[in-house]
Amino acid sequence: MNKRIIKILNKKNKSKIVSLTAYSKNIAKILDNYCDVVLVGDSMANVLYGLKNTHKLSLENIIQHSASVRKGIKKALLVVDMPKGTYANKKQAKKNAALIVKKTKCDAVKIESNNKNFDIIKELVRSKIPVMGHIGFTPQFKNKFNIEGNSKKKIIKLLNEAKLIEKAGAFSIVLECITPKTSDQITKSLKIPTIGIGSSINCDGQILVTDDMLGLSGFYPKFVKKYASLNRIIEKAVKKYTTDVRLKKFPTTKNFLYGRRSK
Ligand code: KIV
Repeated sequence: MNKRIIKILNKKNKSKIVSLTAYSKNIAKILDNYCDVVLVGDSMANVLYGLKNTHKLSLENIIQHSASVRKGIKKALLVVDMPKGTYANKKQAKKNAALIVKKTKCDAVKIESNNKNFDIIKELVRSKIPVMGHIGFTPQFKNKFNIEGNSKKKIIKLLNEAKLIEKAGAFSIVLECITPKTSDQITKSLKIPTIGIGSSINCDGQILVTDDMLGLSGFYPKFVKKYASLNRIIEKAVKKYTTDVRLKKFPTTKNFLYGRRSK
């Protein structure tokens, strides 16, 4: 088994798994120094492409961004989301997952659960492609942002879904927008780690969309903690540049040399 995946599995009940998303090399390079897992999420459909949901993101889109992210990653586990419609049956899933791995050299793929596609996970794992599952609010299959697992019936359903994903061979599961009590129950019932987003401290690890936590996306639901307001920093820099160009303060003789300064 991939050494990086063994490292993630070994974190269960020991230390929290730190994960963030990346869509390009420069951000990935920074994340690689701190994160255990970097996910090229299909959230790029909303965050980068301004689409209303993730449904139309293509395989080519995700491959291109993941190839860029790969260039910035040396240590972290690189996981790539399979876009909606690219894993509708076993044959298609196997072909597309193999293509993602071949073109991006990622360590694993992530697929969202529709509470039926356990055979797809099994097939990918059988083909030696590690799979991360995803339950709760699954944007590829659900249109409405809802709290998941807030009734007895829903708890049993989610718990069962998580166990079937583990049984199918996934090495971890993202829990999205699941109540703290249900996240706790799922996390304690599984041998594989759970990675939460909007699902409380009870998960084995956490993930956020990097653009959200850096204050770039404009999407800040309660479960997002904004660690920076990069939009303001960028705006300030752009404003200064604009003034400099208009007032002929840039470039100066200092900027005439060719070549790049590193850092
Ligand atoms: O697409 C994505 O970024 C994700 C995370 C929110 C888990 O699936």
